Amino acid sequence: MSRPTPSDDHPAAAPNPLTQLTLDQLRRRTSVKWGRYAPDVLPLWVAEMDVPLAPAVADALQRAIALGDTGYAHPTGYAEAFGEFAAERWGWTDFSPGRTAVVPDVMLGIVEVLRLVTDPGDTVVVCSPVYPPFYAFAQHAGRQVAEAPLGADLRIDLAALEEAFRRARTRGRRPAFLLCNPHNPTGVVHRRTELEAVAELASRHGVRVISDEIHAPLALPGADVTPYLTVTGAQDAFAVTSGSKAWNLAGLKAALAIAGPHAAAELARMPEEVSHGPSHLGVVAQTAALRDGGEWLDHLLNGLHANRTRLETLLAEHLPTVGYHRPEGTYLAWLDCRRLGPHSAQPDSAPGDVSLDPAQLFLERARVALSSGNAFGTGGAGWVRLNFATSPAILTDAVTRMGRAAQEAGAAAAK
Ligand SMILES: Cc1ncc(COP(=O)(O)O)c(C=O)c1O
Repeated sequence: MSRPTPSDDHPAAAPNPLTQLTLDQLRRRTSVKWGRYAPDVLPLWVAEMDVPLAPAVADALQRAIALGDTGYAHPTGYAEAFGEFAAERWGWTDFSPGRTAVVPDVMLGIVEVLRLVTDPGDTVVVCSPVYPPFYAFAQHAGRQVAEAPLGADLRIDLAALEEAFRRARTRGRRPAFLLCNPHNPTGVVHRRTELEAVAELASRHGVRVISDEIHAPLALPGADVTPYLTVTGAQDAFAVTSGSKAWNLAGLKAALAIAGPHAAAELARMPEEVSHGPSHLGVVAQTAALRDGGEWLDHLLNGLHANRTRLETLLAEHLPTVGYHRPEGTYLAWLDCRRLGPHSAQPDSAPGDVSLDPAQLFLERARVALSSGNAFGTGGAGWVRLNFATSPAILTDAVTRMGRAAQEAGAAAAK
């Protein structure tokens, strides 16, 4: 759907949710983003946003608290609200609430879908570098993970994917592909043609696709998200999503697993006890966000768009050797630090070697916490992920500090 797009020169007028909290207020937060590091560190790592709650969500939660409405979840309305949002944003008109299940959160939903469509020991293909829990959760569920690394342009490499599908099929009976749509950490928004090619390969090689669409509402101006289940050939796939990223609701757990028309019978076999995981206040918050949080989301997207441009300018000024691939969606920037200097990864560096990790350099010398690329699998060494869902002031301070730190490290190495 087309919506107003601010130009880079004329960022959207207020209210920008990213400018409403001060650093002092943010430091009083107790969630992991602000809690993990010492008070002199600027945390631009885990995917939480430095925004107040959308008023529609806050109102719904306050109504529930005032009533003492804190019992077990009874999630009528969540799937319907998602359906209306998906039709309005992405033109997804054949979404059916009857083909959904409410699951505790996106990762646990993915694990439950994996249990439906794969067997222990089967292979789960991922496109590395990718969100680290894709590895951990699949392995914890007894599946093997195989990588189909992204291409140099950070988009899906269809030849690598086909090879991974072929090998996965020889290693086990029922392989799956865990798609990240849009992709974390690169911010790439997959095109419909790319997803059609994925669907064709998956069906040719007997691979089931599970699409993680938690970042889908975060398509930045200029990008159009394609829900995987709207793609030709994807009728037997699943999507798992929630409003946790777009409205910053990770602490209010309730996500949706969605089956394509040919996968509905499998989803119906999801054990009833899975539905005991989502919290009632999570359902209340997620439903309100989808139903009444659209305008707030648009202001957020405009603010993220302005930050994306600001980051580009800041990097050019303070860290000119760092590679920046402008993200099309998400609030994550995937920064190539391999030419940064002594702390950057050497071609033969072992992933996990922190002495070569630029995230370590920036934490120690700049007091800026980023996510180390090492955790994201093959292709991550020498990269960092920066979360720009913060105020322009914090973003500017962080990148300025990072630039200074890189210079100091370079000068120290030259001595
Ligand atoms: C791609 C992706 N999937 C899943 C999650 C986590 O979602 P949840 O907390 O609902 O499991 C994140 C969080 O950053 C994410 O980026």
